[in-house]
Amino acid sequence: MPLVVAIDGPAGSGKSSVSKAVAERLGFGYLDTGAGYRAFALHAINNPDIPLEELLKSFDYEISLDPQKAQVLLGRVDVTSEIRTQEVASRVSEFAREPRVRSLQHQDARSRVALCGLDGVVSEGRDLTTVVFVDAGVRILLTASEEVRLQRRSAEKTESTENLKARDASDSKVVEFMAPAEGVKLIDTSHLSFEESVAAVIAEIERSRA
Ligand code: DC
Repeated sequence: MPLVVAIDGPAGSGKSSVSKAVAERLGFGYLDTGAGYRAFALHAINNPDIPLEELLKSFDYEISLDPQKAQVLLGRVDVTSEIRTQEVASRVSEFAREPRVRSLQHQDARSRVALCGLDGVVSEGRDLTTVVFVDAGVRILLTASEEVRLQRRSAEKTESTENLKARDASDSKVVEFMAPAEGVKLIDTSHLSFEESVAAVIAEIERSRA
């Protein structure tokens, strides 16, 4: 098994950009588990009249573990950008709440990591430290104050403040990712630069290997 670095945190905490940079610098794979939920939401949006059970059966997607690409395919279509639209962001929690969607995503994340053949994988999401990779070599909760998270998202212009707040409120009813579980290292990036955040995560990985 590769070394698993499991990173959870709310939207706008910086976990995607930090996780990607850490994976690149260490030569590890990068698994964005949120992309799997987003791809499922897009599949459901594209097929509005199909029941959930059928959507689950016809859901065919791929996520590249290359941190520079992090490409997402739905069927054969590259949806890497399309899963970041406001529409997907506003509907994704609705599907992420479904136990059958969650269990499919959990199995997929575990098998992608187990079969990747890499030395390590940095995986990010909401329930990796508590459910999916509870035995991960490194478990981190990356957070930031709500004010900072909203500022970061508005600078990116990828999601409205209202949606981000609603999504975090809805997602945290399903899994706890605002406070660290036992044994999970809390890194608050509110007052850290991007480089300092990356260094803090790498230091944690080095500590676990020492
Ligand atoms: O990380 P993200 O914003 O791309 O995640 C999109 C949605 O997927 C998020 O609103 C909640 C859900 N999600 C989840 O429930 N569990 C995960 N491990 C990752 C994402």
